[in-house]
Amino acid sequence: MERTLRLLGPFRQVLPLSRVPLRGAWRDEQLELIQEGGLLMKGERLEAVGPFDKLYRTYRSDQLEVVRLDEPLVALPGLIDAHTHLCFAGSRARDFAARNNGKSYLEIAAAGGGIWSTVQHTRNASQAQLEALLLPRLETLLASGITTVEVKSGYGLRVDEECKMLRAIQSVGQAQPCDVLATCLAAHMVPRDFDGTESMYLDHLLEALVPLVRKESLAQRFDIFIEKSAFSPAAATAYLRALKERGFDLCVHGDQFTVGGSAVAIACGARSVDHLEVSGEKEIEALAQSTVVPVALPGASIGLGCAFTPARRLLDRGASLAIASDWNPGSAPQGQLLAQAAILSCYEKLSAAEVWAGLTCRAAAALGRNDRGRLSEGLLADIVAFPTADYREILYHQGSMQAARVWKRGREVNFSS
Ligand code: NIG
Ligand code: FE
Repeated sequence: MERTLRLLGPFRQVLPLSRVPLRGAWRDEQLELIQEGGLLMKGERLEAVGPFDKLYRTYRSDQLEVVRLDEPLVALPGLIDAHTHLCFAGSRARDFAARNNGKSYLEIAAAGGGIWSTVQHTRNASQAQLEALLLPRLETLLASGITTVEVKSGYGLRVDEECKMLRAIQSVGQAQPCDVLATCLAAHMVPRDFDGTESMYLDHLLEALVPLVRKESLAQRFDIFIEKSAFSPAAATAYLRALKERGFDLCVHGDQFTVGGSAVAIACGARSVDHLEVSGEKEIEALAQSTVVPVALPGASIGLGCAFTPARRLLDRGASLAIASDWNPGSAPQGQLLAQAAILSCYEKLSAAEVWAGLTCRAAAALGRNDRGRLSEGLLADIVAFPTADYREILYHQGSMQAARVWKRGREVNFSS
């Protein structure tokens, strides 16, 4: 007889996060905790979540397969990294050293470093080589409990090269279990070999790249870097509006070194605005009044030695807050999302409830994916389990407690293969 239902457990604690609101402060006392919990799965979805014994009694039948867990485990929704630049070739160790020897971002770029140096390495790599670099990075994320990851292009900066990156992202996305959402970041900077203004470059993307992205379904989301060294708010607004009209999802790199990007994100109806290290009262208030999800990128603050996103003030004003790694070779080479989120929580005084929401359901909202990010009936059975009996131990260890087991769409991920 075919067994259609699988019951996992008992977990010492299950944190379903099913009642966490999508915005605002949330204290640990408000966190829903199921002691000796169980997760009932049907195919790739969750069928029920509750106390293990109760689920066992309710669903006990020939059709129930029980996966009994003898070790102490705490279960959470699979983590979501909503902002990465994982697809790249080369290293920027020289930039890192130069920064820490007193050189500025602009001096480093002028001396041949910065985004443009990664563009050279990435253009020199074949699609197959990019895939070979990307696959182990994704496997590392999945082993750490990240079951959905956003990956940007943006180191091609030419129609054919951006397509190469997006094809590599798509192909690796399909070759392993972690769900990969591709974002086109051809508007990362005006490439040095483009002969024209920023608006001419963006118009060129709309004309020559966007139809190809649509035709091959290479990405549903577009991003732009709004900054002095990249694109102005005015040029970005025209580009984002044109993309919105064409039905694409939008996100923005904004307010990283100078303000301006968050206002554009709000005006253009972006799903998220990411960075926000220099956002002030005005920007925070505007974000709190909007539906745009602010995304903190503590890995970039750590990598550059800059201020953290004002996460506490955003939440206290009533905004949402997702937390992502920004894993990239320049500003955020570390790529350890859990460690970064734990460190952010110390500096910004975030509760564990706010951190876990930022890594799960609120990150899902930043990506427009409401089929995941909580352990609730009907949602994807994406689950991470940590080897402890007390959820507080996980962030306390600041990333050094590794995920013990991971299930993606109902299937356990086997790390040894
Ligand atoms: O999110 N801010 C712009 N883009 C990346 C950095 C990319 C790079 O330096 O290669 C970021 O920090
Ligand atoms: Fe980024």
